Amino acid sequence: MSELPAPAVEGPLTSAFIRAVRREPVPHTPVWFMRQAGRSLPEYRALRGSGSILDAIRDPALSAEITLQPVRRYGVDAAILYSDIVVPAAAIGFGVEVEPGLGPVVQEPFASKADLDRLRPYEPEVDAPYVTETVRLVVAELGATPLIGFAGAPFTVASYLIEGRPSRTYEKTKAMLHGDPALFGALLDRLADMAIASLRAQVAAGARAVQVFDSWAGALAPDVYEEHVLPASTKVFAALADLDVPRIHFGVGTGELLALMAAAGADVVGVDWRVPIDVARARVPAKAVQGNLDPAVCFAPWEVVADRTRDVLRRNGGRPGHVFNLGHGVLPDTDPGVLAAVVDLVHDEGRATGDPVPGT
Ligand code: CP3
Repeated sequence: MSELPAPAVEGPLTSAFIRAVRREPVPHTPVWFMRQAGRSLPEYRALRGSGSILDAIRDPALSAEITLQPVRRYGVDAAILYSDIVVPAAAIGFGVEVEPGLGPVVQEPFASKADLDRLRPYEPEVDAPYVTETVRLVVAELGATPLIGFAGAPFTVASYLIEGRPSRTYEKTKAMLHGDPALFGALLDRLADMAIASLRAQVAAGARAVQVFDSWAGALAPDVYEEHVLPASTKVFAALADLDVPRIHFGVGTGELLALMAAAGADVVGVDWRVPIDVARARVPAKAVQGNLDPAVCFAPWEVVADRTRDVLRRNGGRPGHVFNLGHGVLPDTDPGVLAAVVDLVHDEGRATGDPVPGT
């Protein structure tokens, strides 16, 4: 394996990423990208071949290598495990596949109380030992760079299990949420237990932070989120509190939900590009924030990308508690050279001194 970039600070527990999520001053703003391990990298496409992503995830040596590729290429401040939010549900035999170019597809979607019996408890070391093995392999190679483990939040995983495929409207999900809230609540509670088991196993194997992806929570009105989703997500974060690892909570289109998502108990709130980062900070004053360059901006001329990157840094205003990221995942056709240049720019120009906030 080629060499990893030299760490900015000594070890994973004192890295710029860990310091930033703890809202401590940092010599450079840490940066990583959601979906940094994936199709935008030619070395990923070369290695990955054409099989199902779930098969690739079942191969620890392959998944470890894919996890490390963006760390080597970009010198990002954190790795994110190469896996998927539907892995636990697939591993317990719920009948989930991931269709290339589409996303998760479920043979028999979750529709009634009887389907709860198909969601038995997830035992990571028995059902998906390859995930924790990948974590161990990655951590052994990473040295000072922390590995972020992750899971899907109960709502977002439920949306796939109920709809049976990616949806724009979430009509079946919302029909169940409103029409049979007890069943919907029971489903989310089981999926919370699944996320907890998965995240605890990843941390036990060496992950230094966790991110809970509630990618599609932005489809909900705040009062609906608060009543029907917040309890299950709160359960997930509470069950990780004793592990003493930073917990990140992310969703798309969640501007109106940021305060509620913070209330679920994460240490860091991920923000998409629709809310300026200074506005987001005001909505979650006691939290670190992560984001929030529009991933599609990476297709504009470099001067624009640089300008928008600087705008995020300027809006953060040198305050501790900022991790630079995109507002959602790297788009597959993104030029890796642009992401490498964004990393360099953030490292050169972003810092958090702990000084009073200028301007805001
Ligand atoms: O680099 C990383 O971020 C780590 C790997 C990662 C994947 N999925 C690999 C993957 C992570 C963190 C995820 C999480 C995930 N999976 C989310 C939450 C993040 C988000 O984007 O909001 C969601 C909603 C899923 C479900 C899912 N899996 C989708 C929507 C897709 C895309 C379908 C497609 O082909 O466009 C997948 C498949 C998937 N997961 C790919 C990757 C790299 C692409 C398919 C492949 O390379 O075979």
